[in-house]
Amino acid sequence: MKRLRHLLFVTLIAAPGLLLAAPPVAERDVLISELIARMSLQEKIGQLRLISIGGDMSAERIREEIAAGRIGGTFNSVTRQDNRPMQQAALRSRLGIPLFFAYDVIHGHRTTFPIGLGLASSWDLEAIENSARIAALEASADGLDMTFAPTVDISRDPRWGRTSEGFGEDPQLVSQIAARMVRGFQGAAPSDPQRIMASVKHFALYGAVEGGRDYNVVDMSPLRMHQDYLPPYRAALEAGAGGVMVALNAINGVPASANSWLLRDLLRRDWGFRGVVLSDHGAISELIRHGVAADGREAARLALKAGIGMSMADSLYLEELPGLVRSGEVDEALLDEAVAAVLGAKYDLGLFHDPFRRIGRAADDPAEVYAENRLHRAAARAMARDALVLLENRDATLPLRKDRRIALIGPLADSQVDMLGSWSAAGRAEQAVTLRQGMAAALGGQGQLLYARGANVTDDARVVEYLNHLNWDRPEVVQDARSPAAMLDEAVRVAQQADVIVAAVGEARGMSHESSSRTRLDLPDSQQALLRALKATGKPLVLVLMNGRPLSLGWEQANADAILETWYSGIEGGHAIADVLFGAHNPAGKLPISFPRSVGQIPTYYNHLRLGRPYGGDPGNYTSQYFEERNGPLYPFGYGLSYSDFSLSPPRLSAERLRPGETIQVSVTLHNRGPRAGATVVQLYLHDEAASVIRPVKELKDFRRVKLEAGEARELSFEIDESMLRFFDAELRHISEPGTFRVQLGLDSAAVQEARFELLSRD
Ligand code: NOJ
Repeated sequence: MKRLRHLLFVTLIAAPGLLLAAPPVAERDVLISELIARMSLQEKIGQLRLISIGGDMSAERIREEIAAGRIGGTFNSVTRQDNRPMQQAALRSRLGIPLFFAYDVIHGHRTTFPIGLGLASSWDLEAIENSARIAALEASADGLDMTFAPTVDISRDPRWGRTSEGFGEDPQLVSQIAARMVRGFQGAAPSDPQRIMASVKHFALYGAVEGGRDYNVVDMSPLRMHQDYLPPYRAALEAGAGGVMVALNAINGVPASANSWLLRDLLRRDWGFRGVVLSDHGAISELIRHGVAADGREAARLALKAGIGMSMADSLYLEELPGLVRSGEVDEALLDEAVAAVLGAKYDLGLFHDPFRRIGRAADDPAEVYAENRLHRAAARAMARDALVLLENRDATLPLRKDRRIALIGPLADSQVDMLGSWSAAGRAEQAVTLRQGMAAALGGQGQLLYARGANVTDDARVVEYLNHLNWDRPEVVQDARSPAAMLDEAVRVAQQADVIVAAVGEARGMSHESSSRTRLDLPDSQQALLRALKATGKPLVLVLMNGRPLSLGWEQANADAILETWYSGIEGGHAIADVLFGAHNPAGKLPISFPRSVGQIPTYYNHLRLGRPYGGDPGNYTSQYFEERNGPLYPFGYGLSYSDFSLSPPRLSAERLRPGETIQVSVTLHNRGPRAGATVVQLYLHDEAASVIRPVKELKDFRRVKLEAGEARELSFEIDESMLRFFDAELRHISEPGTFRVQLGLDSAAVQEARFELLSRD
């Protein structure tokens, strides 16, 4: 090992410029193969073991296991003080191979940013990348090396609780965000001590679990996979993500964790991925429950053969691989390949060069890990403002005047923990700004802010029990002991004294979380009763929604004067929402996912395939519709209002024919006719009029977030080339076919203006 360190010293330290550059391939390979040649079977298997800190094993026992070379990496320990002794133990092991430390840094680390859906609602790629950069900065300062993120599962079914973690329903938008998240986490290279390695998840298709029920099976045609669901994972890998976490679901009959088509043919062979492949929590043991492995031995064999490298929180590799390799049932070369990927990730993280690269020296440890000055509040506030989506604003109810009496009512108006959303990493509820606090600060003594809780998030005892038994470290939902009627009376009394009501309603954060699938998407009954009582006062009613998935909001749309979707907006959420409510910030968010009218209508994704009998708008028989309800989403993908009044001219094309290798310019004039400066997102969709396979009614291909002064008009120009017209044909070739296309521009996916052009053949 000394010799290896010496080798690294000579090549890296003596040439410091190399530290942040791509690692020299030959040296990396030499190091890895020399190490593997010296490793015992047990040491190899130890490298594949990824353990969760905080479980049954004591800290001392963990250090013993590490020093015995029986652990390759850990997750869930998030301070330098906790990680340092473990790394010291790793260096005491026979070969001194360093550990890596991972964690679920999903939407911020100590500074909690908005949840994935909120980040995506900004359509602001720079800001999203910056949020990941800050998360990496904070996580690396806590001695972490790797995150289990980004989550790029396309979700078209809001019943699925993990819809909250991803970036919505659209392959193009999610792919672009996936790449930016990876860049934000990793920077130029994951060896950067202020960055962390990204592990994209959950590979693959996890968002398509049947019925939106978590961990359920996925059955999907290859065409749909390639066209709609796989691109974001690939985009993250092309951006350099060092790791992949494998999904818990089965795909077309084979669990992803035992799926050699997925992990060997697609990921390794076709996509050329060389990084580390991690199982999800306990997934190897679950192969027995799935019924593809008779016992632990078979499960371990299947997983390794399929291509699972590290086993997360699972003892089967440790217990079964020694026997499997000795008996020849598993070729040692397969084990070596998995170990090489783990060592490669450690190399790429710079850990062979300096195992304490991110842990640093004890003398430099922060005195207080939760210190305010470790947070990035300004960036969190800016990001949260851009995550807010204005869904309704009748008669310019918003922005609110500060000299009014405002009744702030609702179970989410003053709940710190719910501001964070789920998977809030090392974020602390105590540091979150609630809406009540944010509005009070914005008013600064002007007007009057009255408050009543009005209702519990839900009075359904079964739901409350569920939420409090999720894996949090304390009860999540604290029920108000008063009777629902007493709370409602108080809320109505408070509302009657006010000029305007702001009602903060939605879901407790645990309702949009792993395993938190729902059959209903409307507000819980307690909150519906509250809103009806508030409406009956006749006062203007502003809804501030906090939730982690699209909700069905038919009554709310018809009855509220304004609706602001805020998702879970993070530690600065209260300030950010107040900025929008009082007009200090002009909302510009756009929905990254459609809102259905009802659960029965799911799915309502905008980019659906064309039909032989499409619904035409009239109450027509024998067309594709639900006869009890209007067709189409309540709020479409890409939708969101502004305090400005934006309009878009029809698109103008530089040519009506496109030859492969050439481009067409699409110009459009965006006009802000309103009295205030503001931003909006101009969206470019394409539609293929006829092809060898059915193509979607429209597909997002490009977009631009633009800020205009009051009264300003600006010409914007987009480019279309042949590569944007490609799709997967019946043989899964990614091709374009000559013919007529429509380019569609709009400020949302429903209201678009079109122009046509023709793609000519190559010859
Ligand atoms: C299970 C979740 O599915 C996954 O997203 C997460 O990264 C791991 N647990 C580790 O916490």
